[in-house]
Order: sequence, then structure tokens, then C-alpha cells
Amino acid sequence: MKAIQIDDQKLSWADTEAPKPGPGEVAIRVRATAINRADLAQRAGVYPPPPGASEILGLECAGEIQQVGEGVTEWKIGDPVCALLSGGGYAETVVCPAGHLLPKPENLSFEQAAALPEVFATAWLNIFQEAALQPNESVLLHAGASGVGTAAIQLCRYFGNPCFVTVGGQQKLDYCVELGADAGFDRHSNSTVDQNQGSFASAVKEWRNGKGVDVILDPVGGNYLAGNMSCMAVNARLVLIGLMGGANADISLGLLMVKRFKLIGSTLRSRTDQQKTQLIQSLRENVWPLFDSDELKPIIETTMQITEAEQGFALVESNQTIGKVILTIP
Ligand SMILES: NC(=O)c1ccc[n+]([C@@H]2O[C@H](COP(=O)([O-])OP(=O)(O)OC[C@H]3O[C@@H](n4cnc5c(N)ncnc54)[C@H](OP(=O)(O)O)[C@@H]3O)[C@@H](O)[C@H]2O)c1
Repeated sequence: MKAIQIDDQKLSWADTEAPKPGPGEVAIRVRATAINRADLAQRAGVYPPPPGASEILGLECAGEIQQVGEGVTEWKIGDPVCALLSGGGYAETVVCPAGHLLPKPENLSFEQAAALPEVFATAWLNIFQEAALQPNESVLLHAGASGVGTAAIQLCRYFGNPCFVTVGGQQKLDYCVELGADAGFDRHSNSTVDQNQGSFASAVKEWRNGKGVDVILDPVGGNYLAGNMSCMAVNARLVLIGLMGGANADISLGLLMVKRFKLIGSTLRSRTDQQKTQLIQSLRENVWPLFDSDELKPIIETTMQITEAEQGFALVESNQTIGKVILTIP
């Protein structure tokens, strides 16, 4: 089969050995995959795959089942599916545990379905499970126009939770509000304040009439911590899912104590197969039917061919995208 190979950070579509499914696994003929920030970090050599995972990039895909391993009874050859992967999606064939599959929503193409697993799994896991969002609680989403952000906005809108986004640029802000965000803040809007130093906090407090926000989904980290803490309500939960703004920060332990907030670190890829199977099951029950009823939709910036992966990576790195960049496999 062909797969993306990395040589000195250059991506090429070249021949390699196809994986075979073991017991409890399936092989998928990949029709489309998507670019995630983790792929960029893996290419740069700073985010190796977890032990046992494929060395090939690609954390999600959509396609048809090509082969089923021993003991797999729920799926059969030819079923259209999408999957959450530990790696290996940038290839003609990928193998994953059967428990990490979701049916491709019938009204969506393979390209559209490939935009769903990673971002909806991340948003669902971290906002609804880790932070245990309650009815009517408010949410702050950083990088609101990102893949994860646009999934999270839609989930908050559907479940009736008011949400505030931070984004880079008015066009992204307008898009997020149209998608369902209640309000937002353009992190590029105030050039006199360092754009990453938490200048969003006063806008969030104003939005909440001084009360503070209940749940924050934060892929930025370091230089947003002080701002996050200042605009959190008592008993709030801050779920840290990325470090785009740095891995270190000073923390006011007094404020943490007084606000009785929980700081939760969360990664999806390194969870066990069993934990991922449980998450996928929960997604299938609570979220997947909402694609059939058009309550939720994939948000896609653009679709390219897998051979154009380099350009796709550069586009994602430019921070100019809204939603996902999809790669199709012929
Ligand atoms: N922990 C997990 O399990 C997990 C799983 C999936 C994703 N993630 C993380 O979630 C984040 C979003 O992923 P994605 O694939 O949805 O990303 P994406 O679509 O590529 O969007 C990322 C956006 O983040 C914003 N950004 C970039 N650098 C920033 C900075 N220094 N400060 C503030 N904002 C910045 C940019 O938007 P603006 O310019 O509009 O702000 C950029 O477009 C990434 O950090 C990713 O690693 C974590």
C-alpha cells in the first residue's frame, strides 16, 4: 500500500507494507483522513506515537471495512465507517480496534465523515465527561474556530449551554457566532496588550455580568492560565488539552483554593484502548444521532489530496483555518 512517509520533515506518498488486523481489530480502506495539530508535532519530531501505535501519521479516517479480525462480529467487510486512530490514517489501509469505529452518518460523504472523530471525541470527552458540564452552565472555548472549537460550539448550542469563544480575527468570530457561540473575543483586537496574555478575561466577565464562567476548554495553556483563573466562577473546571501558548505558568494557589476550581489535564491519544472504546460508545449514543438529524455538522476549511499533505500542514500552521483540513486518498 501507499502511505505518507516522513523524511527530514518532508512528507512523501510512498510504498510501505500494509497492516493486517489482529483479533478484535479491523482493516479500513481509507477514503479520507484529516490534519490534526498532533500530526504537525509528530512530523516535527516532538510528539512520538504512543507505544504500539502505527508510526504513520493520521489520527482519524473514514472509509470502508476491508478485512475483519478474529472475534469481530459487529462489523463486516464493506461497511462505511469512520474511526478514531492512534495513528496510521495517512495510508491506503489502516488497522484499529473494532471498538474505535463509528458508523459513517448516511447523509455525509467520506470527506465529511473524516472531519468528525477526533474533534467530536475531544469536545465530548473533555467538556461533558471530564468537566461534567451541567445544564445551563456556561463555557469558555479558546481557539473557537479550530476543529475542536467548532465541534464544541455545536455541542454547547445543542445542549443549551451558553458559550463564549476566543479567536484570532473578526471573520472567525462572526463564523463562531453564526455557528452557535453566544459571544466572543478577538485575540488580535487589542494590539497594545500582548495578545496571548489573557486579555480575554475582562470580556468574559462582562459577558457573565461579573459571575465568571463554569467550564473552560483550553488548548493554549501557559500564558492563558492567569486570564482563565481570573474569569472562572467558583467551582469551575478548567480542562487543559493543549500547550499552544506554552507549557509553564505561575499559578496563584490562593485563587485556586478560594474559587475551589478544578484544573484537569487531558490527552486523548494516550488513553487505553478500553477507555477509547467507552468514549466511542458514549459518542455513538449521545452525539452520532445528531448528525443524522442535521443538528450537528462537519466544519471543513478545505479538502485536498493526500499528495498535497505538505500544503495542508502549512495551511493549518498558518492559523487561518476554520474547522478541519481534509485529505482524500484515491
Ligand atoms: N488533549 C487532547 O486530547 C487533544 C485532542 C485534540 C486536539 N487537541 C488540541 O486542541 C487544539 C485544537 O486542535 P485543532 O486540531 O482543533 O486545531 P486547529 O483547527 O488547527 O486550530 C488551532 C487554532 O488555535 C489558535 N492558536 C494557535 N496558536 C495559538 C496561541 N499561541 N494562542 C492562542 N490560540 C492559538 C489558532 O486560531 P485563532 O488564531 O483563531 O486563535 C489556530 O487556528 C490543539 O492545541 C490540539 O493540539 C488536544
